[in-house]
Amino acid sequence: MKRVTALGLLLVAAASCSSGSSDSTPTSVATIATTLAPTSTVPFTPGAPGVGDVYYPGLGNGGYDVQHYGLELTYDADGSVEADAAITAVATQNLSGFNLDFVGWEIDELTVDGSEVTFLRDGDELVITHRIPSGEHFKIELSYGGTPQPMQSAAIPIAIGWLAGPEGEQFVVAEPDAAHSWFPSNDHPTDKATFTFSITVPAGFMGAANGELTDVISSETTTTYHWSMDAPMAPYLATVVIGDGWELVEDPGSTETAGLQIRNMLPADLVGDAPVALAQTGEMINVLEEAFGPYPFDQYGIAVVDGFQHALENQTLSLFGRTMVEAPFFEYVHVHELAHQWFGNSVSVAQWSDIWLNEGFATFAELLWIEHLFGAEAYREEVANRTEVTRIAEYGPPATPPPNDLFNGSVYQRGALVLVALREEIGDDAFFATLRTYAERYADGNATTDNFIAVAEETSGHDLTDLFATWLYGQELPR
Ligand code: TRP
Ligand code: ZN
Repeated sequence: MKRVTALGLLLVAAASCSSGSSDSTPTSVATIATTLAPTSTVPFTPGAPGVGDVYYPGLGNGGYDVQHYGLELTYDADGSVEADAAITAVATQNLSGFNLDFVGWEIDELTVDGSEVTFLRDGDELVITHRIPSGEHFKIELSYGGTPQPMQSAAIPIAIGWLAGPEGEQFVVAEPDAAHSWFPSNDHPTDKATFTFSITVPAGFMGAANGELTDVISSETTTTYHWSMDAPMAPYLATVVIGDGWELVEDPGSTETAGLQIRNMLPADLVGDAPVALAQTGEMINVLEEAFGPYPFDQYGIAVVDGFQHALENQTLSLFGRTMVEAPFFEYVHVHELAHQWFGNSVSVAQWSDIWLNEGFATFAELLWIEHLFGAEAYREEVANRTEVTRIAEYGPPATPPPNDLFNGSVYQRGALVLVALREEIGDDAFFATLRTYAERYADGNATTDNFIAVAEETSGHDLTDLFATWLYGQELPR
């Protein structure tokens, strides 16, 4: 309410200015706002504390757009981390201040454009007071440190963020709301940025992050790994993986097959003894490129850690728990995380409630892999099995998952069946053209369920209102 009052007062001030000029006809506030709006007279107000995510209103912040995160981390074998973050952003309104999302850690220093600024911490919000005109670029620099603490996600019933494994390995799994538990961020997929990482670890350790390994600098006691993610990335897909004795291993066969760099970060004992399916990365990329269009980034690979039971599609470097990699079904999880590089990472959700656009599509890729390996009949059998599972589980509508259980079975299994149903309805040509058009149109950006429906209707020429209404929003699984 305070902000509205301040805005009102400034508009009154603007109105009295204008009444001094030749046209002194009384004007309404609305008219003043539209006629007297050169940037110089627009009031300076705080950026909003959220970007308007319907499920998680505190995530992200308004009033600026981050261009780049430069993260320098020094990890000590005692488990502590010292960090420097340099964030460049551009103001999208006249700002009297703005928020970053950030929780935990001790902040040692915070400057904006080199000046110390006033800030306070309020839950997950870091509230900074600093005047920045709309359109201006600015740089926030923060020094912080401590022992990384996992955070309880609002969306999934586990602690996520920066986690530690039993052998002391460190890794980040932040989807959907834990990026801001390890670096100050505009923590929403609608604000993507490029990233550079500098990870200093004790000698003998490996430190990996997203993108390209650009430099390795060794001293007697430490090694610093420089990584660069040049394509836009949502904060939740940023990762760091640190392990004593871990190695970065090139996969020349997959690199050759896919025509892009494939490298994996593996614990020493898996280096010469990785599961066979890991060498299929190149073939998987080719199969998915056929269906979805060109692979959207310059590298791919997985990092494997102990003490993690899941897999997560961090951009260009998916993270896998060792149990996942050693499971007989690994290749299906492998193709699933790979598919997320198109759907999730390049095309990201604009609202977390649309998560079926990530998980349904990645689960559908598992069916495509089965079809590739075993043929159309095997695809149909697998669809029949999963339809049965979905029916028995009585999964609700995939497009409205519960906010406290965002990654439920429906968004995966019923989400994938939505695409199966669409494929049957419009035929292979229009269906795959829809996937490729959608991947291309929203590459490096964000999309909504309605954006996807629009591409499907435009590409196929069909009215798909009923199909999507029943499959996405209906309680009952359609026939
Ligand atoms: N996106 C993951 C998948 O590929 C699921 C997931 C979301 C996850 N958030 C996570 C896994 C956090 C581990 C930790 O299906
Ligand atoms: Zn997934």
